[in-house]
Amino acid sequence: MAEEKRCLAEKVIVALDFDQPEAALQTAERLRGSGCQLKVGLELYARAGLSIVARLAEQGFPVFLDLKLHDIPTTVEKTLRCLLASEATLFDVHCLGGLEMMTRAADLCHAAGKKLLGVTVLTSMNGQTLRDIGCGDGVAEQVLRLASLARRAGLDGVVASPWEAAALRAECGENFLIVTPGIRPAGDAVHDQARTATPAAALRAGSSLLVVGRPVTRAPDPRAALEHLWD
Ligand code: C5P
Repeated sequence: MAEEKRCLAEKVIVALDFDQPEAALQTAERLRGSGCQLKVGLELYARAGLSIVARLAEQGFPVFLDLKLHDIPTTVEKTLRCLLASEATLFDVHCLGGLEMMTRAADLCHAAGKKLLGVTVLTSMNGQTLRDIGCGDGVAEQVLRLASLARRAGLDGVVASPWEAAALRAECGENFLIVTPGIRPAGDAVHDQARTATPAAALRAGSSLLVVGRPVTRAPDPRAALEHLWD
């Protein structure tokens, strides 16, 4: 049972969405030894920079540096060169940056022995919010289109919602990483997420890794919350 829980925890990336490095480190300490990975996003990075990545890696965690880069190819490339000097092992760019930007970013990451994901459609968006920004296609269609572009560019996988995981798995094959935020245990508050699923349902649909933030980080006991994600 303990072994099974550890295997499941290895599929979880806990999003350390804190604005103070001390709070992030405290939560990391409580998750130490669980087998999970950690994610540093914009909020924590804006406050603590790459030094927080170094401290989390020192604690033995694989770190996903989730800065969702979206700019012209040269700017993304130059920024990635700086970020790749960190201990993070996984990075991401917005697929909307286009084929050339993604290709150059993927080549750079692979030369450094690291992985790159493409963000498709944010899990906070739905059909209406996509139409608001001029994209008339449905969410699923847009996710598949962007994932196919990411594959052409040589990326290791995409970030999408669990709702698109099954179609992505069928389209992109077994080796493509499908990383899904928007994970909520049954009955939990969805907050600002629009396309959510339970951890078990997301895995069944074909997700490779689950990004879980508030359900773990805002729990009184984050380690227990991580272990109970599968109940
Ligand atoms: O707290 P919650 O579980 O909703 O956290 C979700 C995390 O996943 C946040 O850090 C957010 O930036 C990230 N994310 C997302 N949707 C994406 C990509 C990343 O919600 N498409």
